[in-house]
Amino acid sequence: MFTLIYLITLVGNLGLVFLISWDSCLHTPMYLFLSNLSLADFGSSSAVTPKVMTGLLTGEKFISYNGCATQLFFFVLFGTAESFLLASMAYDRHGAVCKPLHYTTTMTSSVCAYLASGAYICGFLTSSIVLGNTFSLSFCKSNIVHHFFCDIPPLLVLSCSDIHIIESLIYIIGPFTVFSPFLVIFTSYLLIFITILTIHSTEGLQKAFSTCASHFLAVSIFYGTIIFMYFQPNSSHAMAIDKMVLVFYTMFIPMLNPLVYSLRNKDVKSAIKKAMRGR
Ligand SMILES: *[C@@H]1O[C@H](CO)[C@@H](O)[C@H](O)[C@H]1NC(C)=O
Repeated sequence: MFTLIYLITLVGNLGLVFLISWDSCLHTPMYLFLSNLSLADFGSSSAVTPKVMTGLLTGEKFISYNGCATQLFFFVLFGTAESFLLASMAYDRHGAVCKPLHYTTTMTSSVCAYLASGAYICGFLTSSIVLGNTFSLSFCKSNIVHHFFCDIPPLLVLSCSDIHIIESLIYIIGPFTVFSPFLVIFTSYLLIFITILTIHSTEGLQKAFSTCASHFLAVSIFYGTIIFMYFQPNSSHAMAIDKMVLVFYTMFIPMLNPLVYSLRNKDVKSAIKKAMRGR
């Protein structure tokens, strides 16, 4: 099942990246962000799933110290980038729905490039800080990670160093990387919602809904799981239910995004048809 999920993730996300770069009708900020999001989905899923798959297939549930660090690094990098990309997309939708006449002057290609590269830079900084701090601890309690990949909480449990500093660091970085994009998304959607309430034509309403519905769904799934997983009292960490949620978060969500976007979307559907028909 994991292999199937990973294959769908691979084909769906990379397919979307190629489709968007191939069809010039899709060279708009929304689709360029979507393409970046697909790349991040592909990255975060590739950091975790192949290793889990080989573990399940060969029965060898072993990961090297460096392998563990690499996994944590890329998972945090792409996860953070995804969170900021979702915020950029919300900002973009806000521009398109609330200030349509200014849209072409506010969402220029250089603004988009700044936002997209900013997302990756934030991801890189966050994962460097997290990695540097986590792997400067000494691990002497045990070498068994009670989890299906190297995530921060299950690693901290193994450390015999003082983890107070890194814990407080995570309580600063976590809200920054999760809640600041969430605030942007929340505000954007509040303004979009208020604008939609003032639209009186059915056609206008439909248009506003169709441009926002997919993104809104993707955002809800993403933040719903993160908040459930990482922002709850410590005692319940490392429990079976958390692992189930994380399987969902690390494996299913990267698969869902391209499906959510392409199956409900006329532009993507027509691009797929065009691609099928040939050059
Ligand atoms: C990411 O977004 C930027 C800015 O919109 C765009 O120029 C770039 O092509 C995108 N990258 C990918 C891989 O889609």
